[in-house]
This record gives sequence, structure tokens and C-alpha cells, in this order.
Amino acid sequence: MNYQDFYNNSIQDPAGFWKEQSDALEWFKKPQTILSKDQHDYYQWFHDGELNLSYLCIDKHIKDGFGSQTAIIYDSPVTQTKQHITFNEFHDEVAKLAGGLQTLGLQKGDTAIIYMPMIPQAIYAMLACVRIGVIHSVVFGGFAPNELAIRIDDCQPKAVITASSGIEIQRIIPYKPYVDEAIKLANHKPQNVIVFNRNLNAEIPKQDYDVDYQTLVENAVPSEAVSIPSTHPSYILYTSGTTGKPKGIIRDTGGYATALKFSMKYIYGVEPGDVYWAASDVGWVVGHSYIVYAPLINRNTTVLFEGKPIKTPDASTFWRVISEHRVKVMFTAPTAIRAIKKEDPNGKFLKKFDMSCLKYQFLAGERCDVATLKWTEEKLQVPVIDHWWQTESGWPMLANMAGLELQDVQPGSAGFPVCGYDIQILNEEGQEVASSSEGYVAVKLPLPPGTLMNLWGNPERFKSGYLEKFPGYYFSGDGGYKDEDGYVFITGRVDDIINVAGHRLSTAEMEEIVASHKAVAECAVFGVHCDLKGQKPLGLVVLKAENNDSEEDIQKQIIQDVRHEIGAVASFRDVLVVDRLPKTRSGKILRKLLRNIADEMSYNIPSTIDDPEIINEITAVYKINQIGIHKNLTSHE
Ligand code: COA
Ligand code: AMP
Repeated sequence: MNYQDFYNNSIQDPAGFWKEQSDALEWFKKPQTILSKDQHDYYQWFHDGELNLSYLCIDKHIKDGFGSQTAIIYDSPVTQTKQHITFNEFHDEVAKLAGGLQTLGLQKGDTAIIYMPMIPQAIYAMLACVRIGVIHSVVFGGFAPNELAIRIDDCQPKAVITASSGIEIQRIIPYKPYVDEAIKLANHKPQNVIVFNRNLNAEIPKQDYDVDYQTLVENAVPSEAVSIPSTHPSYILYTSGTTGKPKGIIRDTGGYATALKFSMKYIYGVEPGDVYWAASDVGWVVGHSYIVYAPLINRNTTVLFEGKPIKTPDASTFWRVISEHRVKVMFTAPTAIRAIKKEDPNGKFLKKFDMSCLKYQFLAGERCDVATLKWTEEKLQVPVIDHWWQTESGWPMLANMAGLELQDVQPGSAGFPVCGYDIQILNEEGQEVASSSEGYVAVKLPLPPGTLMNLWGNPERFKSGYLEKFPGYYFSGDGGYKDEDGYVFITGRVDDIINVAGHRLSTAEMEEIVASHKAVAECAVFGVHCDLKGQKPLGLVVLKAENNDSEEDIQKQIIQDVRHEIGAVASFRDVLVVDRLPKTRSGKILRKLLRNIADEMSYNIPSTIDDPEIINEITAVYKINQIGIHKNLTSHE
């Protein structure tokens, strides 16, 4: 079937379409009710079905005779380790860890936080949780203890599963002291912290609540996969919102499994048995869906890569992994490609490897600039497919559905709506705009299976944040337009969220931290263009008339505060001191104007501006501090 007909079917008859797709899974109890409403009057999928994600990712394949197939290739240039883990071995690890969690009293409906680096035990922990109905919440290792504490208080885990350390470029990150500090900061106290010791000489302070991972697993009785209702949450994944408090996206079980299985075949074009690699981190949605659940449900071999695109050891590492493990489809963020391109602009490293196994290169996580797309196409000589989605959706919303019908790539566009997503570009009044006109990107309800169910403990925020702006639609928070041929272009967030190296961060949260510095009278934090990371945060501060420290010390303290509160991942390195900020006559700071001046885009001076002269002042400060696209471009030439 061609894309258009298949897509039309999915929109005209969502229940019929997704019922058929759900048949690709092995359910413990097949659903009779396909699409219905929950207690919040929101859509839910396969309400009376029962299944188990851990069973689908592991046991089913063993039952089908594939126990000796490699499930996970762990490739860690930072520890010089390579490990091939079969489905049989995977089963033993996960079943025993699940049994161990049960001995600690964890049961269906409890929550557990997983704060781990990119090691197989992180995947074991996720699958051990869903095996027994424990709802996991993985927290990215680059977040600071304060962020971990916020998540502990929000989802109230019975246990935290962690490892002794992560490894960044030439630096060991000790996780256990961070976990202890987070627990100290949090009001909720988990009963246990399960620690996997990597033996990398990291500091592992001991606490009464500690449990040794290996001992727990060795002494455990393996646990079977229990039957879980389709609408039982499989996980909570926190993502940045427009306030300091992150949003706990809740994912269901049956809808998620159905959507992921569908996506592997029709979007990514992979068959069971193929090797698939998403170079992300299990702490992000890409990691959840495309390092862990989708490839494993689809019986692909998934690559778990603990390293960076560069410096581990160099810019050839991605090509080495693809070639060595015979990766068929790879997925990464444009930032990673830009980093490689900067180190190896002519792609000389590529020539060392046999890349004939690679069929498609997918990109997502941030806007893909045309230069990056073109470079990747030219060097890899395979279709390079930009696709768009969010933590909320859990799987792609816009793509070139290569497995169904590969369309021509239109540089700058993330492709066409994926089956199940009725994507419309709306104006402020909620009416569809003409083609090529920019507007808000919204999706007509119901969303397909696999998308967010609600926000953990906050159904009001779910409604107000996503459903109320355009009644009958899900509002994505992104702006964009559709061209005459139906290609959709995402132009960026319309709120206080930025994407730094494909990592989603809230500038509002950073601004709260900057504003709380004792020397700061007022401030604005917003995203500006960055040649490498796509965007980076920039803070402008007006200082109080009297303070004891020098400007330079204050700048350093502010940068340190953000790093301490949010984590190194915030990449907050630029703070400029200004005499005043541009405001409207009613006192609202004009952040968009500040951003546009920095990016040297054409901008309109708002008629409501209090004093237009301030634009010259800000421009002068940017120039002195070399902020702006122009400077970045020339500095790399
Ligand atoms: N644990 C602890 N710290 C982490 C971390 C983790 N898991 N991940 C990142 N950090 C730290 C980094 O060490 C760095 O710290 P520093 O300020 O002390 O140097 C900081 O957070 C910023 O990290 P990052 O944005 O990754 O920048 P980098 O300079 O270390 O690397 C790139 C630059 C381009 C190589 C890197 O950003 C990259 O690989 N980007 C692609 C990201 C990606 O795949 N995203 C997809 C998500 S879907
Ligand atoms: P996250 O929830 O971390 O996956 O971030 C989602 C946000 O990243 C989206 O709302 C977009 O702003 C941005 N994004 C993700 N993929 C793309 C893409 N292919 N093109 C443009 N923006 C993207």
C-alpha cells in the first residue's frame, strides 16, 4: 500500500487501523475495546487488553526460537568494552533483577527511579520494572542532584536504581554521592538505593538504604512476566516545561507497544533480526523508545553505545560502530553530525570503513539545518531522514515513512504526518492557515496509540498545557508550516523551551535560578543560535546598584548556580551584564526581540517597546561579547 492511502485509513478509521496493528503483538488478553475515554475524559487505547513489555522484548523471542540471537551489543569506547548479550542471557539478568525487586517489596503500581549511565544494567533495570508492573522513571545522568530530588518528590519512588559512576570524556561522574544528596534534598525518602558497582574507582559512600545490585541479583528467584493492563503506566519520563517544575509524561503499555512495533516496520524499515542503533541516552525519550523498547519488541539487535560522536576516541567512532556491528538503520541528533563534521569536514574517517550495511540515517531531536543534512547525504550516500517528535508523543509524528514508501527528501522539512497523526497548522484562533503560512503545530484528537496518557499527578496541567489552547487538538508547543506539496517544516518552539545538543531544556527554569542570585536585580534567559549545539542558553542580567563582588565573579557564580541546580547538561556558559532590559510599556521583558537581535535575524521592533534606543545598547553588548550567528559562522571558517 502507498503512504497516502495507508495514512488516510489511519485518520478515517483510527480504531480499525490500530486494531489491525495491535494484532502484530502477542497479548496475554486481546483487547476488545480499541479506543475509549478514561476518567479524565481523555482517549485511551486497548483498555481491556493485557500484555507485558518485558515479555514482548525478551521471552517471546526465546519462545519463538531466537534465544541465542544477540539482543544487545554494548559498545563502550570509554571503558574499551564490547559485549554481545543474547536474549537468553538478557532473560536471566532481567528475570532475576525483577525477582530481586520483589524481595525488596516492590510490586505492581509502585514507582522506581533509574539513574544510570549507558550500561546494560540500565536496560535490565527498565525491563525488570515493567516485568512486574513497577513504573520506572529514568533520569538522565547529566542532571544534578537537585533535579533528581524534584523527580523523587514528584513520583515518590520506593527504590532508586543506580550505578557507581558514569564516564564523560576523560572524567568519571560518581553517581552515588549525587543520589545521596538528592535523597537528602527530597521530602520523599525511597526505601532502598540499589547500586551497581562498575569498579571504576568512583567514590561510593555507604548509607543504610543501600543494596548491592549484584548480591540482590545473585540471591533472587527469577520472576515471570506478569499480565499488565494495557492502560497501566509503563513509565514516567520527566521533560522540561515552561516552568521550573518538569512534567512527568505518563506512557501506557499496550498502545506504546503497538505504536513502536508499527514504527519499526513502517517508519524505519527494519525487519526482525536486523541491527538497529539509536545513538542517544536511555535518559531521553529516544533512548526509551529506540534504544530499548521498539528494537527489542521487534526482535532487532539494539546497540547500546557508551561514548560520544567525537573524542571517544575520535570522529570516526560512529562509522566504526556502524561498520563493525553491521548496523542497518541509525538514528542520531544533527548536533552529533555537526560535531563529526567539524572534526572531519571531508569525511576522511569514513573511507576507512565498509558502510555497505547502512540503509537509512535518521535524524531528530532538534531542527536539522540544510548544510548538515546535505553533508550527511553526501558522505553516507544513503537517504538521510529528518523526523520530528517529542517526549510527549513517544514516537515520530512527522517522518518520511521509509519502510512504507520512501518519499523524496525535502531539505529543511521533517516530512509528512505519520499514520495516526492528523497534523494541522493553526492560527491563534484555531483555524487552519493557508499552505506555506506559519502557525502553531497541532494534532487533531485522538492521538494515535503510544502517545502520552497524562501528566503524573497533574491532570490539570495536562489539560491546560496541551488540550485547552485549541479545543479538540493536542498542541505541540512548536511552530511550523506546510508547503504546497504537504511537506511540514518545524520552525521551533513557541515557548520558553530550547534544544541544546538535542537536549530539551527550560529557559524559564534557568531564569528562576539566575534571578535568585543575590546580586541580580532582573534578568532574561533565552536560547540563541549555536553552530554546534543548534541552540545555547544566554543570560542577560541587570545587577543591583550595590553588591560586593566584581561583575566577573558574579557571572561565574551565576553559571555555577545553574550547573549546580540543573546540571552540566544545561550548557549554560554565557551571562552578560547589561544596564537595562528591553520592555514593553507595561513592563514585560521582550525576550523574543533579545533573541532575534542576537541571531541577527530580521526583526520588527514592537510598537509597545518602552524605549527603542535600548536596541542599540543591547546590540553593542552582543558585539563586544561576540554573540550572534555572524560571529559564529566566521569563527569556524
Ligand atoms: N552524565 C554526566 N554529565 C553529562 C552527561 C551525562 N550523561 N551528558 C553530558 N554531560 C555533561 C558533559 O560532560 C558536559 O559537561 P562540561 O560542561 O563539564 O563539559 C555538559 O554535560 C554538556 O554536555 P554536551 O551537551 O553533551 O556537550 P559536550 O561538549 O560534552 O559534547 C557533543 C558535545 C556534540 C559531542 C554532544 O553534545 C553530543 O554528543 N551531542 C549529541 C547528543 C544527542 O545525541 N542527543 C540526542 C538526544 S535524542
Ligand atoms: P524532546 O521532548 O526532548 O524530544 O524535544 C522535543 C522538541 O524537540 C520538539 O518539540 C521540537 O521543538 C524539537 N524537535 C525534535 N525533533 C525535531 C525535528 N526533527 N525538527 C525540528 N525540531 C525538532
